[in-house]
Amino acid sequence: GPATALVVAAGSGVRLGAVRAGSPVPKALVEVGGRPLVAHAVAGLLDAGVTDVVVAVPAEHRDAFAAVLPAEVALVPGGATRTGSVRNALARCADGAGPVLVHDAARPFTPAAVVARVLAALAAGARAVVPVLPVVDTTVEVDGDRVVAEVARAALRRVQTPQGFDRATLVAAYAAVTDQQVFTDDASVVRALGVPVHTVPGDELAAKITVPHDLVLAERHAVAR
Ligand code: CTP
Ligand code: MG
Repeated sequence: GPATALVVAAGSGVRLGAVRAGSPVPKALVEVGGRPLVAHAVAGLLDAGVTDVVVAVPAEHRDAFAAVLPAEVALVPGGATRTGSVRNALARCADGAGPVLVHDAARPFTPAAVVARVLAALAAGARAVVPVLPVVDTTVEVDGDRVVAEVARAALRRVQTPQGFDRATLVAAYAAVTDQQVFTDDASVVRALGVPVHTVPGDELAAKITVPHDLVLAERHAVAR
């Protein structure tokens, strides 16, 4: 059936710090394997069977995004925060049909199998689904530079995207919060409404490109595949 993906690509990528000809390059336009991150991310979703894609882009770079994306993709201006960008993209498709996935453009090589697991959990009745991975490092709480507690990592998970939602649930959740509240993902927005969030296995290949080292790994993957 139909499924919509909202791809958030409107961040500036301060931690990546990409520069071209003396000007900062938005992270989603940074190329890996000769293709911008956002183009990889959108192609991956379409290959995985998503039928409609809305991409939130930095308003001042709209033409550059349109030039690297398929014509059927809708573009909307991003917001000041990730939550604001999702809100703008959701407004564009609130009356569509089928589930809604929300995906970071900064996860260009997310395997189709991850998308399939999220969609399958939604089809089985979950209203909110997130792909997760275990935490592999010892994890501690600090006060300044001093360790004050170890955290039991067995129960911790790293949360990836795409996150999947029943459409009406996501629309209601965004209507109930403001962009002044701080959320780093969409499952948190839905959980704020008391909706249970189901987990499925994520994949290291769905890792987010955040710092320059992540780009080195992604480039190696792009060359090898
Ligand atoms: N994002 C967005 N709108 C914003 C902020 C972030 O659409 N106002 C998107 C980014 O484009 C990215 C995803 O949210 O695909 C995850 O955010 P993050 O990795 O933090 O990207 P940036 O905010 O661009 O990076 P940084 O925080 O280093 O500036
Ligand atoms: Mg950010």
